[in-house]
Amino acid sequence: MKDQLNSLRASTVALTEQTFDLKTLSDSRIRILGRKGELTSVLRGLKDLPIEERSAVGKLANQIKADLESLFDTREAYLRDELERTQLALESIDITMPGRRLPLGRSHILNRVTQELVDVFSGLGFQLAEGPEVEIDYYNFEALNMPKNHPARDMQDTFYFSENVLLRTHTSPVQIRTMEKCKPPVKVICPGKVYRRDADVTHSPMFMQIEGLWVDKRVSFSDLKGVLTAFAREYFGDRLALRFRPSFFPFTEPSAEVDIQCVICGGSGCRTCSFTGWLEILGSGMVDPTLYKFVNYDPDIYSGFAFGLGIERVAMLKYGIPDIRLFYENDVRFLSQF
Ligand code: PHE
Repeated sequence: MKDQLNSLRASTVALTEQTFDLKTLSDSRIRILGRKGELTSVLRGLKDLPIEERSAVGKLANQIKADLESLFDTREAYLRDELERTQLALESIDITMPGRRLPLGRSHILNRVTQELVDVFSGLGFQLAEGPEVEIDYYNFEALNMPKNHPARDMQDTFYFSENVLLRTHTSPVQIRTMEKCKPPVKVICPGKVYRRDADVTHSPMFMQIEGLWVDKRVSFSDLKGVLTAFAREYFGDRLALRFRPSFFPFTEPSAEVDIQCVICGGSGCRTCSFTGWLEILGSGMVDPTLYKFVNYDPDIYSGFAFGLGIERVAMLKYGIPDIRLFYENDVRFLSQF
């Protein structure tokens, strides 16, 4: 029986050493040390031993049982350790790997073009001014020499909150607001959103304009031509030809529509310029002296000019964009090109 016990110990040493996973180890422990295990079945022979041997063999049996238990315990601790080590190795982070790049947004093409335009006019001495998009009738029409029932209001039908409160149809009300607040000289550039009841390939119910206003002593039509020519050449190209056509706006007199030589065909005629060689880009004129009465400027001392241009139109020409609706559909495939 001593031999049986010793050989059980020897075989268990070998067995644990060759066990590499916890499940198998725990199965073996039950098979050897469990209630119906191999050790128990060896110990069953104890009662058949002569009485004088029993206590010595009993002692040995206890010793072996303790040894076996410690064999399993040690192996189990080792395997658990090993498992943790491999798991840690798997989960370790390689801090030399490059990071994942966060997608970077960008400003909308219309904001970019607006900024470019403001930059050009800043270079010509204009300061930034802004006004509200929800405007009152007085600033949008009345003080711009368009009394109620004036036929020019027809072209600027808009969205009304009440009879007197509306979404502004152009950036020109900022002219009045600026002059009301500041004594001349005023030299401002006013970008912003405007609204009209209008929608097709080149018209959107919401669009953007940029307004310019320069009033001082002796500002003349030559200054208007000079400033707008400098702007157009800076923005569209050095040698660009411009054309000033007589026009009409209730708030300027005289008024001129400004065309630039077609930036697509260079003036020889194409679809963009309807085969005329010219592109209309803005409306302008000398501030009608009637306006000065509204803002308490003396028309005998001060004169000035104003202009307004559509930002989408400029962006479409500059970047060859065929449809105004693309600006507002927010398709990133379109927006990310700029
Ligand atoms: N406000 C005019 C429009 O929207 C443009 C304009 C501005 C014309 C300033 C002359 C002077 O049509």
